[in-house]
Formats: sequence, C-alpha cells, structure tokens
Amino acid sequence: MKLVVLASYRGSNFNAIAEAVKTGKIPYSELVGLICNREGAPVLELAKRHQVPAHLISSKAFPNREEYEDKLLALLQSLHPDFVCLAGYLLLLGPSIVRAFPSKILNIHPSLLPAFRGLSAVKQALAAGVKRAGCTVHFVTEAMDEGPILAQKEVPVMPGDNEETLSARILQAEHHTYVKVLERLAKDSLIQPKTQ
Ligand code: GRF
Repeated sequence: MKLVVLASYRGSNFNAIAEAVKTGKIPYSELVGLICNREGAPVLELAKRHQVPAHLISSKAFPNREEYEDKLLALLQSLHPDFVCLAGYLLLLGPSIVRAFPSKILNIHPSLLPAFRGLSAVKQALAAGVKRAGCTVHFVTEAMDEGPILAQKEVPVMPGDNEETLSARILQAEHHTYVKVLERLAKDSLIQPKTQ
C-alpha cells in the first residue's frame, strides 16, 4: 500500500504514520512521499529524519490556487498512491484533486464530526461546553470535513481544560486513530506483499 502524506506545518500525525510504517504496524506499506505547502515547516525535517522523500510546493509561490493545484495534482499522480493522507494540511483540496482520487483521500479532524467542522474545532467544542470531544478520520469529498467516516475516537473534556490541554489530549487520540485506520485499510486491501 503506497501512502502519501500532505501536511502544512507541525507533522505529529505524519510522524505517527511514518513510525507505524517503519515498525510494520501498518503492514505491506510504504510511505512514498510527504508533500508540504509551507516553506520551513517542521514536518519537512521529520520527513528527512524518516528518510521519506519530501516535496515542498509552496502554495504562496503560485499566482493562483489553480496553478498550485495543477502542480500538486501532477506530483500526486506521479507518486501513484493507494491513499493520500491529509494530516494537518491547512488548505481545502480543490475538486480536480478530489475527483482524481475518489475514495483515496483521507483526512483527520480534531472533532467528533459532524460536530465542529472547519477551523478551531477544539475552541468550538470548548465554547459549546461539550463533555466529550475527539477526532475523526474520514474520506475527503468536495465539501469541507464531510465525507464517509472511517473512525472516531472520543476523549473526555476535563474540568479546567483549555484549548491547549484539550488539543493535546485529542492529538494523542489522533495518532492512534489514523494508524488504526491505515492498518485496517492495509489489511483489507487486495494489495498483498510481493512474492518473488
Ligand atoms: C491535527 O489536530 C489535525 O486533526 C488537524 O491539524 C492538526 C495537525 O497536527 N487537521 P500535526 O501537524 O499532525 O501535528
């Protein structure tokens, strides 16, 4: 199973996926690329450390979103991924890319969707006063944070939680949940290890 991760900045989910591929927790898999749209993002260093080919396509360097996405699409197609994992990719993927990879693009979002779509999901959850928060892994469709849900993991909201403490608790759940989903996809997939 060939995986490509798209990330914009920190990369802790990328790191969890890379570790899980390396240790065989996600079996029959190869991380064939990390694509980042922001210069200087820590995730680029993480990719180097994991010896995953890193590609920087700075979204700011293009005159418009279409030209940026054309470049991104061409790169994605050249990598022939079985799945593309969005992991803290801070732009909305345009329809040309979503249509080119039907049911092959996954995203992780720090809320129990359909609650709290979009940015600042953790802040929204705290403002709503919910007792349980969590994360969702779902297939990407053209609408933001929609698409069939693959897995969710709940975490409690503790008294005195702020955005930082709750985000940290959710992030732990994210790493575990993303890896579990990819493990399941690898095992369910018809792709088998190549035998000589
Ligand atoms: C995560 O909370 C993820 O759910 C959201 O962006 C954050 C990325 O974190 N989409 P990291 O870059 O993987 O550390």
